[in-house]
Amino acid sequence: MHSLDRRTFLTGSLALAGAALLPPSSILAAPAHHLYPGPARVPLLGEGEPETEVWGYGGTVPGPEIRVRQGERVAVKVTNGLADPTTVHWHGIRATNAMDGVPYLTQPPIQPSGSFDYDFESRDAGTFWYHPHVNSAEQVGRGLAGPLIVEEPKPPEVDRDIVWMIDDWQIGKDGQLPPFGAMRDLGHGGRFGNIATINGAVPKPLSVRAGERLRLRLINPANARVFGLTFNGHAPWLMAIDGHPVRPRKIEQDRIVLAPGSRADLIVDMTGKPGEEFDITDTYYPRMTYRLTKIVYRDETPLRTETLPDPAPLPPNPVTAVNLVDAERMDLTFQGGAMGNLREAEYKGEIMSLRDLVMQHGMFWAHNGVVIPPIEEGDIGKPLFEFKQDRSYILHLTNDTAFDHPVHLHGHSFHVIALNGKAVDEPIIQDTVLIQPGQRVDIAFVADNPGDWAFHCHVLEHAQAGMMGFVRVT
Ligand code: C2O
Ligand code: CU
Repeated sequence: MHSLDRRTFLTGSLALAGAALLPPSSILAAPAHHLYPGPARVPLLGEGEPETEVWGYGGTVPGPEIRVRQGERVAVKVTNGLADPTTVHWHGIRATNAMDGVPYLTQPPIQPSGSFDYDFESRDAGTFWYHPHVNSAEQVGRGLAGPLIVEEPKPPEVDRDIVWMIDDWQIGKDGQLPPFGAMRDLGHGGRFGNIATINGAVPKPLSVRAGERLRLRLINPANARVFGLTFNGHAPWLMAIDGHPVRPRKIEQDRIVLAPGSRADLIVDMTGKPGEEFDITDTYYPRMTYRLTKIVYRDETPLRTETLPDPAPLPPNPVTAVNLVDAERMDLTFQGGAMGNLREAEYKGEIMSLRDLVMQHGMFWAHNGVVIPPIEEGDIGKPLFEFKQDRSYILHLTNDTAFDHPVHLHGHSFHVIALNGKAVDEPIIQDTVLIQPGQRVDIAFVADNPGDWAFHCHVLEHAQAGMMGFVRVT
């Protein structure tokens, strides 16, 4: 009798609260989104240039922005309009395993004209993105990617909130994408482009009004290119990396480095004068620097003349604190590729020379001496690591190759705690960490999300050629 009364009371009060706050329909239904991956033609190169044949979500590149409040459920139906199987992965979202969008590991691929219903909770606020996880080098490379923005309950005050997906395309004279899967790309730095775009088009200048404060959310969906951006004449505040807040720091002399898969949230005060222009340059590769776009101040009276106060830090996301003292330590060394030290490695149980791996299987890369078969074959073998749920782990990740590897872990965000064995002053929480040739990066996290989680290099050609593994949390 007693418990029944209590339950009745609870139900009653919940219903009442719901009725007071929300219109009836929104109590049950999460906002539903529908994504249609399929072929499309888009004006990547701009007016007067040939349109480019791409693959897009709903005919656009990037795909539609999905924007929700923190804690909301996100329901997305995906209907496959491609001639190839696909999935959608929510990069950086710590969802339940079944919603992670990795073929065979978490779901069967969505066949042509088939559908799949994704439904997950947005626990963390921040800037995320979505993309396919089947033949990613080609599918993402042809344009399948879109922004997923999770707003803080109380977002910082800015005049405009702008999302920039900064991409890199290989485009021929005919305006089209040359074939994918070149051996050179697989064994070197991945597929590099000759055209940079912002939000699916060769960038137009960013038109601003003096005195404005912008929030700029940068996302790198490129297959291989790392961007290193300088905002000449400005000192952006770095607010978050991979969705997770950092202590706001001014980027002045240094660049904002954005590896494939990574995101950065900036707050930029438009401190120039009406009529002024400033370049935004990409200087990551010293011999290939170029102007990405420019900031153009309109001839208008400034929006404000006084400098705004320094932005307050964004509220932290609910990432479990790591127990560094009891954490178990594990080593993972990335090997292989052109100009590397790898002579032979294990592939499907057999020791093979790198030469044979390349010639017979198109495989170039190994972890701790093991080359992982392509996930599209349906069996990528044993997990790289088995973690016990809710235990803390420290992974020592060593890059023993001649190329950059942005390493991404699904289902978790990790603290980057040391670089080349030296503890960093302020560990940053990320889901993708760039490891440069010869570097060792230590990451620490609590394995708090059960399931099989992809763990791979986000240079998508590397992932295709041996660097797409997984870890198991039980
Ligand atoms: Cu963007 Cu497996 O990830
Ligand atoms: Cu790589």
